[in-house]
Amino acid sequence: ASGIADNLLLTTYLSARCPVAVAPAMDLDMYAHEATQQNLRTLARRGVHIVEPGEGELASGLQGKGRMAEPDAIAAFVGGLLREKKKSLAGKRLIVTAGATIEAIDPVRFISNHSSGKMGYAIAGELADRGACVTLVTGRTELPTPAGVERVDVLSAAEMYDAAVRAFEGSDGAVMCAAVADYTPADYHDDKVKKKDGDLSIPVERTPDILGTIGPQKTHQFLCGFSMETKDLVENSSAKLAKKNLDMVVANNLKGAGAGFGVDTNVVTFITPDGTRELPLMSKADVADAILDEILKRRSL
Ligand code: CTP
Repeated sequence: ASGIADNLLLTTYLSARCPVAVAPAMDLDMYAHEATQQNLRTLARRGVHIVEPGEGELASGLQGKGRMAEPDAIAAFVGGLLREKKKSLAGKRLIVTAGATIEAIDPVRFISNHSSGKMGYAIAGELADRGACVTLVTGRTELPTPAGVERVDVLSAAEMYDAAVRAFEGSDGAVMCAAVADYTPADYHDDKVKKKDGDLSIPVERTPDILGTIGPQKTHQFLCGFSMETKDLVENSSAKLAKKNLDMVVANNLKGAGAGFGVDTNVVTFITPDGTRELPLMSKADVADAILDEILKRRSL
């Protein structure tokens, strides 16, 4: 508050152009002192964010206000400040599909896949952080709903199709991350299928292709799909871009180290009508960030 910059912290503060937050912590009488309070008011007037101390037991053994705010609370507050800077998608409605679908055979068994939903949830969270109104159509996962996201739970590909197609109407775009089963059992057995001697075959039929339906129908919306391959990544993924009338495909090679199911990292390649761009190994949160930057670079939604 008085412009004294005789240590690294205060020198940095005096030169800072970014948002600044302070979390004061001291004994209760020091905190209540008019000198401290006046300095806090001065800082607040200059735009510094104050994270108030908590009440409780202090280092001196006294009880009162002066305990440093909990580190989690400080981190959440600072996270909020950083997000405030980039509300570039305020007023936009985006759909995200995530996770695996479950295709029931009988009340006990199903066909599904290893998708954890992490990539889609990271994208939904990042969209919400940027101010978008997000509908997350999700298969079954263990993940918590990202803050500020409307979540629609579905099980099968058919249910995901209905929910996603309905939500897409009137939206500004969609990022389809879900690992949708391509086939579903042709008949659902109301009762548990009992085992018999010999082998069993389960007839399956194609599920509706959500992206393949929405793509050819889209007007102004931005449509981003995912493509998971184990070989010929660019060739196969480029074919999906054209076939499904997409603006962008995020492709990943399931066999790459640090990519694919369950892990917190991913290695992806962006495929657009202009060409391809390979990204390094990144956290799924950073991949989500990069996907949205790429979408916004290509189109102001
Ligand atoms: N997708 C979808 N509806 C389906 C199947 C897939 O919306 N019934 C979406 C996925 O969410 C993903 C993209 O389509 O964004 C994947 O395209 P797809 O051609 O289905 O890829 P693969 O399933 O990998 O295709 P293939 O099995 O032919 O490799």
